[in-house]
Amino acid sequence: MVPVNELIRGFKLYQQEYEEAALRVLRSGWYVLGHEVEDFEKEFAASLGEECYCAGVANGLDAIMLGLMAAGIGAGDEVIVQANGYIATMLGVMQCGADPVFVEPDAYYQLDADKIEAAITPKTKAVLVTHLYGQATRMDAILDVCKRNGLRLFEDCAQSHYAPYKGKNTGLFGDASFFSFYPTKNLGGFGDGGGVISKDPELISRVKTLRNYGSDRRYHNIAIGFNMRLDEIQAALLRVKVRHMPELLANRDHIAQRYLAGIRNPKVELPLTDKDCKHTWYQFIIRVDDQDKFRKFLEEKGVKTDISWKVPPYLQPCMVEKYGYKRGDFPITEELCDHIVTLPMMDFMEEEEIDQVIEGVNAYES
Ligand SMILES: Cc1ncc(COP(=O)(O)O)c(C=O)c1O
Repeated sequence: MVPVNELIRGFKLYQQEYEEAALRVLRSGWYVLGHEVEDFEKEFAASLGEECYCAGVANGLDAIMLGLMAAGIGAGDEVIVQANGYIATMLGVMQCGADPVFVEPDAYYQLDADKIEAAITPKTKAVLVTHLYGQATRMDAILDVCKRNGLRLFEDCAQSHYAPYKGKNTGLFGDASFFSFYPTKNLGGFGDGGGVISKDPELISRVKTLRNYGSDRRYHNIAIGFNMRLDEIQAALLRVKVRHMPELLANRDHIAQRYLAGIRNPKVELPLTDKDCKHTWYQFIIRVDDQDKFRKFLEEKGVKTDISWKVPPYLQPCMVEKYGYKRGDFPITEELCDHIVTLPMMDFMEEEEIDQVIEGVNAYES
């Protein structure tokens, strides 16, 4: 059976380096907020290609919440997000006290800049784009809307490590950007992890204070903070992975290019890549006429698939209860959720496995 993802493959690619890094931390006697975190923060920021700063935090959701808080977003503010995004983006907005306001996606599954203005109210403070599935949002149009309307811009890059728009990496466009290093992510660790990136060193310094009990120095607390720190062991493992990202992204691109060249089925729509973007294939999303039938058929052909996501975030029970959203509120998103399917994509696949996926998809008849 071809899995949708299998994390052990990524570990095995650089097993010796990961084991050495973990052992180095275990033997060091220093496990929280030490030089591994500091070095990872420097190395990850440097790897993005422009001068910026990083604060390592416990996970991607904390990165969003702490980053927005440190940027001064809070109670009474509205933040525009995309309706087909992941619930964690909205939770981050809500946990810093603000409210998410939804906008439909474009043909690339990214926030549609043309629809933002209709969602702006006197409370709107910011746009938080999520570069979904590994492709950058079309940033010229987003930057333009933000500038015209005096809105701040933030980026959720949990799915877009090193995904460029016009040659510039996502994470470098907004006031701050938020990364997850959850194991499935393109830059994923071996447990939870997250990071805030910004070109503003003071914002990053506020995140570092907030992540550590609001403490700016030992036993001196200047803010009502949290414990949302990145572990030394995760930082050491992520330092290894940062170094290998060019090869890992090339592996994903190889799989995606084989799918794009090999899949020929009128019942299946392939993903589009904008001419200004280079897709990093966090997920390979296709559209089919009947999700259940397609997924059952592929399973019979020995190929696992998934759906990211069947229920849009605004229709999750907690959101319906708080905001009263209902089916029909965002028809483009709902149409997507009813038809998208995730094909296998991971750090490494055998050529025969890629063939098996292509043959299975091409054999599907509804
Ligand atoms: C778009 C997006 N934002 C935020 C998150 C939250 O990241 P984490 O799981 O590290 O909290 C995720 C991933 O899970 C995500 O895909």
